[in-house]
Amino acid sequence: MKKIIVANWKCNPNSFLKARNLFHDIKKIKTNNLIVVCPSFVHFNIFKFQINNKIKAGAQDVFYKEGAFTGKISASMLKDYKIKYVIIGHSEIRALGETDEQINKKIKSALDHELIPILCVGEKKDEDVKKILESQLKNIISKKIIIAYEPVWAIGTGKFCSSEKANKVLEFIKKRFKNKIIYGGSVNGDVVKNYSNFDGVLVGSASLNSKEFIKIVKNV
Ligand code: PGA
Repeated sequence: MKKIIVANWKCNPNSFLKARNLFHDIKKIKTNNLIVVCPSFVHFNIFKFQINNKIKAGAQDVFYKEGAFTGKISASMLKDYKIKYVIIGHSEIRALGETDEQINKKIKSALDHELIPILCVGEKKDEDVKKILESQLKNIISKKIIIAYEPVWAIGTGKFCSSEKANKVLEFIKKRFKNKIIYGGSVNGDVVKNYSNFDGVLVGSASLNSKEFIKIVKNV
């Protein structure tokens, strides 16, 4: 089965040239899987001249309205730019105050514009994972949404969720939803094998290193 590997570049790299070079390396990867690259908004232009059919363009966020909203990017703008996927509800944005209600509006707006939302869910350290997921997964309003299970304590920390725990959470979600489910949180080329029961992975820091990212795509 085709796996999905999402590269979330976050607020990196710090120049267009570096972004273009990184994308150029990713484009050379031979794989039957699907790679979704989510650069910063100002680097979307990399897609204009280097896209191919195993790589899709993604955004790291979207706003649910259009008009007088300084600094925001709407779903219709993404659609117009041929962006297919959009990460919604990432813990780094939730940490800035984003609520499940706002996430719901973003998901609806993305779906209305035929974008595929990648909804990030996951517990913080010491939080009850089932309780958190019960509430965050209320935003699964369509089978088109990709669920990214990302334990917040494992994001950007180098701390790995054991495959046993990740698989338990996977089963918990699978019992409720038929959606595709991917895993995220300090994924690298070695530990990616621990999450092979998932439909793919969401990769942050390791997606900025083309060698490591190629290893992930090979080992997923
Ligand atoms: P990480 O980020 O791979 O650097 O932990 C994952 C994410 O933020 O989705």
